[in-house]
Amino acid sequence: MRRFNIIIVALLFISCNEDSKQNHLVLKTEKTNPLTNNPTYGLIVDSAMVVSARAEASKIGVDIMKLGGNAFDAMIATELALAVTYPVAGNIAGGGFMVYRTQNGAVGALDYREKAPLKATRDMYLDKNGSFISKKSKLGVLAVGVPGTVAGIFEVYKKFGSLPLEQLFKPVIDLAKNGYIITKKQASRLNQFQKIIKEVNSGESLYTQNYKEGDTLKNKELANTLFRISKNGRKEFYEGETANIMVDFLDSKNGIITLDDLKAYEAIWRDPVVFNYKDLKIISMSPPSSGGICLAQILKLIEPYPIKDYGHNSLKTIQVITEAERRAYADRSFYLGDPDFVSIPSKKLISTDYLKGRMEQFSFEKATDSKSLSYGSIPGFESSETTHYSIVDSYGNSIAVTTTLNGAYGSKLYVDQLGFFLNNEMDDFSAKPGEPNMFGLIGGEANAIAPQKRMLSSMTPTLIEKNNAFWMSLGTPGGSTIITSVLQTLLNVYEYDMTMQQAVDAPRFHHQWLPDVVIFESDSFSKQLLDSLKNKGYKIQSKTGTVIGKVDAIRILPNGKLEGGADQRGDDTAIGF
Ligand code: GLY
Repeated sequence: MRRFNIIIVALLFISCNEDSKQNHLVLKTEKTNPLTNNPTYGLIVDSAMVVSARAEASKIGVDIMKLGGNAFDAMIATELALAVTYPVAGNIAGGGFMVYRTQNGAVGALDYREKAPLKATRDMYLDKNGSFISKKSKLGVLAVGVPGTVAGIFEVYKKFGSLPLEQLFKPVIDLAKNGYIITKKQASRLNQFQKIIKEVNSGESLYTQNYKEGDTLKNKELANTLFRISKNGRKEFYEGETANIMVDFLDSKNGIITLDDLKAYEAIWRDPVVFNYKDLKIISMSPPSSGGICLAQILKLIEPYPIKDYGHNSLKTIQVITEAERRAYADRSFYLGDPDFVSIPSKKLISTDYLKGRMEQFSFEKATDSKSLSYGSIPGFESSETTHYSIVDSYGNSIAVTTTLNGAYGSKLYVDQLGFFLNNEMDDFSAKPGEPNMFGLIGGEANAIAPQKRMLSSMTPTLIEKNNAFWMSLGTPGGSTIITSVLQTLLNVYEYDMTMQQAVDAPRFHHQWLPDVVIFESDSFSKQLLDSLKNKGYKIQSKTGTVIGKVDAIRILPNGKLEGGADQRGDDTAIGF
């Protein structure tokens, strides 16, 4: 099934409030749902749904659920199908996070984030003068973290899997073998990165050919790798033939990842960050992701302000959200890192008494200067290419998964013999505390490099309960903008009564403390609004082509049906039954 493609041009006035009327926003495209004939809703189904970056991956996940599989079975198949059809971010040599809520209301989180190799050192990306060599943490062999995805899917299977593993792998192996159709957006992306992939790999490979829309891409090597993993299990990737080929490949490029690194890798079940925003209970990813804590801080900082009355994307709403984001990202840079290595005052950071003081300086008259603001004081305490999918099954289980290679096609290193790209997640560490990473994020000591440590992430797979029942699953790629995209999408539905589809499509803005600039998606916010912000001292960036996030989400409608929100910014597709 393809995503809805009936596109109409429409102006959408989100609120009747005076302020937002003045600053109305333009939704350039809107999909019509042929099932409901309602132009504002996404796909609506009765029982189960997958929303992901590729139609093939959503379909494979849904087919698994049609066979009686649960959301966790579907997760495994969807994750692998994205590795085949969406190699820019889908992966088996990257990592990710899953947040889940079972049919009984139990919640949990799985961390299958990459780790620094045993031979990693704190200053491995600095030259002899102590200057950061930024390319080294982004491109090629030293950028690669020890991959976690395969360990992740096997942990999910061990705890929750219900169908035979071979049944989950089979459709994906067939897809890799028989090929998938390249979309227009995908062809343009592949061609954009062709040159750098060729350079990093010193030669041609499957992904350096010229692709155009409609071509079929077959990846026999990946099909073989997946077949071996389905036959031999997790060990195949971490100790078996696949592990040996991977390490030989890395050795040939002077890499530092060894078989010991692969053998030592474990995915970890963690407690998610759980907090309330008004009458919602929000369940999101805990460290080593900054997502859950930052999202909690921002929502709690804005909670006292009547942003519904201010209006969607109105001047006052944007000011309150921006100032809350500024404070949360300042804390992120100081306090957050791998909880197995640094002590994080998680409870305190999201507590009302701590957050109360953080907005004291804020005034609607003038922007706070990021230079004047640091992390908050707590007494006693001293990568844009990613992909997200949401799944709900007919048993009542729901999951939110964000997985990544970090940059587009990760380190760009492609293991020909195995059919996959290797991540460049090492760039998510603070290579030199104070120096920005590829997302401009400044990190501190808490996120310094150490052997076996996990690098801090912004991935924010999130589930929401309303009235003690599951209500929404959402998440997005977008590096540092992940947290603020998740924030705005949930507010769009909860505060501004948008449908799920409208909420993911609505124009977004982003602020992250440093650099001290508010970024807006291009052509979506009025000049008058941006000028008003400038007059109050906000530094504005609204460059042509700016896209913030690519949210995939599912919510429960009041009648109990599921509505999908598949972001129009990509090829994202909701499929269900
Ligand atoms: N690599 C992007 C992130 O984890 O935030």
